[in-house]
Amino acid sequence: MLVASNRGPVSYEVQEDGSLAARRGGGGLVSGLSAIGPEADALWVCSALSDGDREAVRRGVGEDGVRMLDIPADVHADAYNGIANSVLWFVHHMLYQTPLEPVFDAEFRRQWASYETYNRAFAEALAHEAAEGAAVLVQDYHLCLVPGMLRELRPDLRIGHFSHTPWAPPDYFRILPDDIQARLMEGMLGADRVAFLTWRWATAFQNCVQGLDPDRWESTWPSGAPRAIEHLHDGRRITRKTFIGVHGLGADAEFLQARSHQADVEERMAALREEIGEGRKTVVRVDRTELSKNIVRGLLAYRQLLDDHPEWRERVVHVAFAYPSRQDLAVYREYTAEVQRLAEEINSQYGTPGWTPVVLHVKDDFARSLAAYRLADVALVNPIRDGMNLVAKEVPVVSDHGCVLVLSREAGAYQELGKDAITVNPYDVVGTAGALHEALTMPVEERAERTKRLAAAATALPPAQWFLDQLEALRS
Ligand code: G6P
Repeated sequence: MLVASNRGPVSYEVQEDGSLAARRGGGGLVSGLSAIGPEADALWVCSALSDGDREAVRRGVGEDGVRMLDIPADVHADAYNGIANSVLWFVHHMLYQTPLEPVFDAEFRRQWASYETYNRAFAEALAHEAAEGAAVLVQDYHLCLVPGMLRELRPDLRIGHFSHTPWAPPDYFRILPDDIQARLMEGMLGADRVAFLTWRWATAFQNCVQGLDPDRWESTWPSGAPRAIEHLHDGRRITRKTFIGVHGLGADAEFLQARSHQADVEERMAALREEIGEGRKTVVRVDRTELSKNIVRGLLAYRQLLDDHPEWRERVVHVAFAYPSRQDLAVYREYTAEVQRLAEEINSQYGTPGWTPVVLHVKDDFARSLAAYRLADVALVNPIRDGMNLVAKEVPVVSDHGCVLVLSREAGAYQELGKDAITVNPYDVVGTAGALHEALTMPVEERAERTKRLAAAATALPPAQWFLDQLEALRS
């Protein structure tokens, strides 16, 4: 069994003395794969991302079961920053803003060539490493072309693709140049099975295929059988099928509960309590500083709450953790600056000598995130579009005394958690302010009951099972 993803489970840093320090990453895929056990004959193919990673490849340093590809840095930058993060991420999260974006010019075509090269490097490495009939699980929008390329090289393999993001609705997908739409679908549909986090994204994918090239692909929704894309010859004869699946990755309760009671988390709780002040309520958010996470509108909603309900002044603190992400891209740097500017503006407008309305932290610290989850009275998860959103699933599992979830209807997690959350339209700042007020005033018993139900729903499909389900579906 092989897994392929841009970011792997480990990264390296060159130390002052020239040695290499390894750092293991987190996330559902890492815990899902480690849960299947060391005896499993699995290989994870990923990309060298840092200088340390490249050095590790050069020195032949690595972990068993991981193969890092040293793709030239400029090719990787074009594929990752240029195409994956600036085009595909924007399309699937519907982030473009006309009249300035997007423009598919010669520079885009040059970057697209790198995206092809980068995907081919993965396909060739997988073809080389895979045993006869092996299962290959390809991850995410970075590697959309790999299934098609790999099928050409190794038709004996079972190939799956999993999208951790939303999928664009057809009217938005059609923004992409026609030949690029076709290339992406040829790539994805090289898989035997493509899977998503919710049926909403799976349906969007099928709708995008429908009508793209009716002589080649037909999208079907048979009752009592799995949904599929049929591959046609001459517009009629079915030559093979790509099945569609959904696996809603859940939170890892066991890990989170154990990790959130370690000493470093307790220390950070004490420090946070100090920052918040005695007897105040907390509205917590934890995100990468990512355009789709909607942090700015979250701050605007909090300011609106202080305007609409002045009784909350001095009695509530917005604890916002916004960890830098994709800082190679100007639009992310600008967004990070805007989040900081707005937090400062709210603090200078409303703050008093004993009360800081917004406590913003930007340095990534997982122990402090868990501390905030434990303390939170309200968690604000208001993305404008999100594949799943694991914060929404982690908070109820870790919460000490029950926490109200204010949740965007555009997060994948809404399908599973919407019933017990207070749900919002993420663009509606006044509505979100009202939801925050409702959350802050919810009776404690109701809050505790809802948190219990949220935690049960959030952990229904733990990472290990999520992973095994995919593998089993692919093999059958
Ligand atoms: C989020 C998305 C994943 C994606 C990852 C990439 O977690 O849900 O789909 O793979 O971001 O982040 P990176 O930092 O590697 O660009």
